[in-house]
Amino acid sequence: MNKGGRLAPVWSKLTDLEVVSGFGATVRTADGAEYLDLTSGIAVTSTGHCHPKVVEAIREQAGRFLHAQVNVYTHDLLQPLADKLAELTPDGLDTFFFSNSGAEATEGAVKLARQATKKPNIIVFQGSFHGRTAQTMAMTTSKTSYRAGHAPLPSGIFVAQSPQFSEGGTVDDAVEAALHHLDYLLSAQTAPSETAAMVIEPVQGEGGYYPMPPAFLRGVAERCKELGILLIADEVQCGFGRTGAFFAVEHYGIVPDIMIMAKGLGSGFPISGLASSYDLMSLWPVGSHGGTYGGNPMGCAAALATIEVISADGFLAEVSARGAQLMEGLREIARHDRSLGDVRGLGLMVGSAIVEPETGRPDGARVSAMLSHALEDSKVIFMNCGTWGNVLRWMPPLVVSEAQIGQGLAAFEAALKATAR
Ligand SMILES: Cc1ncc(COP(=O)(O)O)c(C=O)c1O
Repeated sequence: MNKGGRLAPVWSKLTDLEVVSGFGATVRTADGAEYLDLTSGIAVTSTGHCHPKVVEAIREQAGRFLHAQVNVYTHDLLQPLADKLAELTPDGLDTFFFSNSGAEATEGAVKLARQATKKPNIIVFQGSFHGRTAQTMAMTTSKTSYRAGHAPLPSGIFVAQSPQFSEGGTVDDAVEAALHHLDYLLSAQTAPSETAAMVIEPVQGEGGYYPMPPAFLRGVAERCKELGILLIADEVQCGFGRTGAFFAVEHYGIVPDIMIMAKGLGSGFPISGLASSYDLMSLWPVGSHGGTYGGNPMGCAAALATIEVISADGFLAEVSARGAQLMEGLREIARHDRSLGDVRGLGLMVGSAIVEPETGRPDGARVSAMLSHALEDSKVIFMNCGTWGNVLRWMPPLVVSEAQIGQGLAAFEAALKATAR
């Protein structure tokens, strides 16, 4: 007999904390210590840990139905959730499919695009992260460690340049170079007649918290429209109020053909979804996609309560105000510390890139040391991202207070000072 169960070591660990409860932006550990959690469980607990309205909705639903399988019958929260979402999604995206995780929804989007267009290929962008399943690993280019050792990955994925990685010059130069590369890709490697969709994160997440320059996203959208290629916006990380708008595409004035949502949608209860037009969704043959748990009533209850909280008057304005406070605080620090090389973001999705002051090279080791310092000395939990791990990313719960942003900034500045070489 086994002496006890063990946990798979494949899970990377940001901290050794064992948490027992959480509320808002704080978590409590088994030994009674409190930490300011600025990770939101990787941009998930949009309404904070255990928002009373979300907890109540889940409790209430658990007493009625834990699982009402959508192929077997329709339960009474599915249509209300579709109706609520349709009030928020861009015009025309009024039809929804539900699943459980971001990767699963992304797979669904690719399956839908291929079925609807009868074309095989997909274009993604450098630095993208779309998930950990075989299909979404093939679409992920933010770090080799997400793909290494898992080959062969599914084929038909082509990687276009992202302006984030265009060397030198102005943002306009970078946009021009990246669009030029996209045109090249469509002429040299995957013809429009073979390309089902382009999948893009309007604000790149794991790749470095990088908001796509508006001219780039518009250029991508224009090419999709002209060439009969579907545009898929992966709003898994940047959706549901994170950027101060319900969906990040609103900042850009573009409407994708398919939008992928997850993370913040359920405040931590697993639920993800796709939004598209009814015409497009109708091209998906009945039964060619599905899943045991997608659209389950517990996830729908969590999502409906989350939407109610985020839709409250003034909620998103407050997200923008906290984001502005954060960016201002970081820019102030950057004015006198050249190792804070770049501050960028939208709303409460903010990246602070740490570089070697002399060379401007990404300094991932320094960020690792900063995370440890903030955890131990300030009891603040931060996380990093980016290909070189050098972007300390800010993704607090959307209910974070002015004082908590101040506390985070103080911890960040202290960590920066303590790790200076
Ligand atoms: C933009 C984006 N897409 C997809 C995913 C995959 O989501 P999940 O981890 O829920 O499968 C993530 C996760 O971080 C993400 O940030």
